[in-house]
Amino acid sequence: MKPFKIRDVLIAPPLVLSPMAGVTDVAFRGLLKRRGGIGLTVSEFISVEGLTRNNPKSKRQMRFYDYERPFAVQIFGGQPERMRMAAEMAEQVGADLLDINCGCPAPKVVKHGGGSGLLRDMPRLETILTEIKKAITIPLTIKIRAGYYDNNINAVETAKLAEACGVEHIALHGRTKEQGYKGRANWDLVRQIKETVKVPVSGSGDVTTVDEAFARWRETNCDGILIGRGAMANPWIFRQIEDTLAGREVFQPTLADKRNLLLEYFELLRADMPELPAIGRMKQLAGQFTRGLVGGSRFRQVLYHSHEVHEILERIEEYFETVEAGRVYIGEGDPAGEAAAAEEAESPALDSCEAATVEV
Ligand SMILES: Cc1cc2nc3c(=O)[nH]c(=O)nc-3n(C[C@H](O)[C@H](O)[C@H](O)COP(=O)(O)O)c2cc1C
Repeated sequence: MKPFKIRDVLIAPPLVLSPMAGVTDVAFRGLLKRRGGIGLTVSEFISVEGLTRNNPKSKRQMRFYDYERPFAVQIFGGQPERMRMAAEMAEQVGADLLDINCGCPAPKVVKHGGGSGLLRDMPRLETILTEIKKAITIPLTIKIRAGYYDNNINAVETAKLAEACGVEHIALHGRTKEQGYKGRANWDLVRQIKETVKVPVSGSGDVTTVDEAFARWRETNCDGILIGRGAMANPWIFRQIEDTLAGREVFQPTLADKRNLLLEYFELLRADMPELPAIGRMKQLAGQFTRGLVGGSRFRQVLYHSHEVHEILERIEEYFETVEAGRVYIGEGDPAGEAAAAEEAESPALDSCEAATVEV
């Protein structure tokens, strides 16, 4: 695994924080970028219909911290003219790369020909890529799935078409649209695409540990690895892979690091959005991130029932203090909670992350 370039944009280390709608907003990306090891960040997928009609939410989704660079804006849509206009807007805001979403399986996206809908309409995909290519100077990249239908895996064909249209990086999530998130991602398709095209190729799907990242890279010879859900469960995974690559001791977060991460995230969120959504997003990350921590399940319950900023902050402090002191966490003690906490204290640590909460 070594750094690679998308034209003149250096991806070093070759690790990408995979785009996740409702998760990888500017606060989350900033939080993870500060942990180290990320070579490229990507926006959430942004609607070209929203962008080109000046929808404030869509425009906000293009914001990024300068320290994130290189940064890619990902857009989705099915209408070539709107796609071209949105691509130009992304270039104007200073994105380093423009990425086209060809993977979203959500019915309302596919219905209009966008997302994974493009995988079953090659002429439309070709028109969109050709139009965008003429309009922007930054490199154009795409993120695709294995195919639309389970019985028509066309990722290699799509990759060839994309390369012929001037696309300069291809990322593959090796599941079909029909498959959604079921089963395992097919990384052999990443290997096949890598053998077929000359542009750099990255793989996505189910990487949750350092060892898995290296195994997928060795099996496929891909240029980059994308990590999505695994980074919610372990925000240090990129840094740990980078440490391994450099032959350094692998960073292991302490309880204080974990506590600080949650507090820092909450701060970033609150600086960026109103309290209510900030609390919602905080709970979402805490939910993923505390899996496997002692008393984590009780902590999640308690957090879930907290609705004020001060309550959330107090619960975080209280939880980490309790764990640090080696006590069982029961939260705002009710007997049921105590039982649940005691039960979890005895169960083995979980290291898996939960399936998608948003269907993309
Ligand atoms: C909640 C969620 C939202 C997602 N949103 C996007 C998105 O906006 N754009 C995109 O290309 N992929 C999106 N994906 C797909 C991921 O980028 C990734 O390809 C997929 O989750 C498999 O990788 P993982 O196992 O590392 O999560 C999303 C996945 C999840 C779980």
